[in-house]
Amino acid sequence: MQVVLVGFMGVGKTTIGRILAKELGLPFMDMDRELVNRIGMPIKDLFEQSGEEAFRLEETKLLAELRSYEGVISTGGGIATRPENVELLLQFETVVFLHASFSVVNYRINKNKRRARPLAEGDVGELKKLFFDRKVSYEKVATFRQNTNHKPLKKITAEIREKL
Ligand code: S3P
Repeated sequence: MQVVLVGFMGVGKTTIGRILAKELGLPFMDMDRELVNRIGMPIKDLFEQSGEEAFRLEETKLLAELRSYEGVISTGGGIATRPENVELLLQFETVVFLHASFSVVNYRINKNKRRARPLAEGDVGELKKLFFDRKVSYEKVATFRQNTNHKPLKKITAEIREKL
């Protein structure tokens, strides 16, 4: 079984993915974490040194490699922005679009400042624009949606499992 989680920064892709994988008895792959291991530096440093495009190339390469991965995959929030990735994502068995309201996402991002997110460093207006612009791309690749606003994590994973 293949379950890919997509959605904006702060919707809970990594946290939910880890729990879901455990409950399903499947391996878990956190793409951002794997990319940090591969490139040997934090994502923020790669953005600063080589630009966002360098990160996107690595991200696409990894996504293509995961095409036959059996397990739960949590992606980075920008995964559906490249047309190549949209094509790839459409080939996976199940893609779940995790969504929450902008205020919830913004609150979670601010609470978790230690996790350096280069694209969350601009002003809140820019972040909000990105949030709404990206919605269309997530919808395009999603098999179904799952709301993650104000709900216990176990309830969220139970709702996802029901829909699988
Ligand atoms: C990004 C989101 C991050 C990470 C990178 C770019 C984005 O992942 O991949 O900083 O473009 O939204 P999270 O969604 O896990 O924060």
